[in-house]
Amino acid sequence: MLARMDVDALLNLSRRLHAARDLDAVMAEVAVAIREATRYRRAWMAVRTADGERFRVVGDRAGGDPAVSARLEAMEVSKDPYLQRCVSATAPFVIDDLRRDPDANQDHVEALGPRTVILVPMVRLAERVGAFVVGTYGDAEGVMPPTPGEYAFIIQVASLVSVVVGRIHAEEQRAALERQVGRSQRLEALGRLAGGISHDFNNLLVTIMGNAELALDLLEGHPAEELVVDVKAAADRAAALTRQLLAFSRGQPLDRRPLDVAEVIGGTARFIRRLLPTTIALEVVPPAEPSVVLADRGQLEQVLVNLAVNARDAMPSGGRLTFETRRVVLDADFVATHPWGRVGDFVVVSAIDTGRGVPPELRERIFEPFFSSKPASRGTGLGLAVVDTVARQHNGFVRVRSGDESGSAFDLYLPRAPEPGRA
Ligand SMILES: Nc1ncnc2c1ncn2[C@@H]1O[C@H](COP(=O)(O)OP(=O)(O)OP(=O)(O)O)[C@@H](O)[C@H]1O
Ligand SMILES: [Mg+2]
Repeated sequence: MLARMDVDALLNLSRRLHAARDLDAVMAEVAVAIREATRYRRAWMAVRTADGERFRVVGDRAGGDPAVSARLEAMEVSKDPYLQRCVSATAPFVIDDLRRDPDANQDHVEALGPRTVILVPMVRLAERVGAFVVGTYGDAEGVMPPTPGEYAFIIQVASLVSVVVGRIHAEEQRAALERQVGRSQRLEALGRLAGGISHDFNNLLVTIMGNAELALDLLEGHPAEELVVDVKAAADRAAALTRQLLAFSRGQPLDRRPLDVAEVIGGTARFIRRLLPTTIALEVVPPAEPSVVLADRGQLEQVLVNLAVNARDAMPSGGRLTFETRRVVLDADFVATHPWGRVGDFVVVSAIDTGRGVPPELRERIFEPFFSSKPASRGTGLGLAVVDTVARQHNGFVRVRSGDESGSAFDLYLPRAPEPGRA
């Protein structure tokens, strides 16, 4: 039975929680309410993250002991049996003295000195959101089981908090979705812009390169010869850049024909060999069965070159680049447990290097156009944007696998086409 005063406190708390934008703000408000209405000084909660995969421990940093909050928050729920028990409880419980609790994590008791624990599972729409905990620490606070009024009040607070946490999660998910939509709109605008510019630019380059070549014929032995050689080299670089821009902006119509991927790799390998220093070994592993796809040869070659150049840059002191082709059939069961996949019969080309690897926090971003970790003179950040665009244009996709410092593998999935003559 809640006292009249407690009902007022709950209404007041509920109003203040409305304005809370994140879990720390929720915790701060809740801790104040607990201190005002009960004898307890400390509260914390373990909340399932919005992706549902982990728990985050949030302590009251202002009023509680900051050292306790910091220590609690650093503990990993999945690795701690005490926290595991906290987040998996299905009903509220009270432990009068954690020191006498056979299941308590005694390291934790030793380090933080918890005594009484009042735990309430946080549940929203039948889904377990986490756990809300109030308690005492150390001999100064001591063992202090709740009165029936305190217990009832804490349970009510936990149910208010569950609702607010659900609202905050929904807001976070919506914000993430908006960012994603914004990103694909930006990409589309960028693609159109790049396509428009690169067509005109390409025409100008043809003039520059043609004239540079004519001038070189006339300048044999002339002191200006070297200068024009530089002009031509710069124009070649500009042409390569324009090719990337055109590929990325889908400004070119595709010329799709049945191609044997192994044959295309074999042909391109000679060119790729010349791009690599002698400290990098190139290996081509052919597929065990015919690997025909419906593809634009020029685009496919460009993808292979882009992957090879990236591998080269990731192995400044040498290593090995392997191009491996194989057939992979992904079924619904596989896709259910591997959300990146897609159902289908694929030819997969993997570019595997022994370089520095892609750190996890960059894995999403590396496919963005103009994202580059290289100095401006070296990288434009278009290589993987082209790989991604070309993969999509061919109804395929690309995926990166990489452990830190154990190299990277870029897998290009292209739908397998029937062998020519057999279809
Ligand atoms: N094989 C790889 N190993 C490690 N990091 C890589 C690899 N391939 C790409 N990256 C990372 O992804 C980033 C983006 O690659 P992308 O090819 O799109 O651009 P870039 O190589 O920097 O420039 P550009 O290809 O336009 O010359 C790189 O800057 C690098 O940080
Ligand atoms: Mg690149």
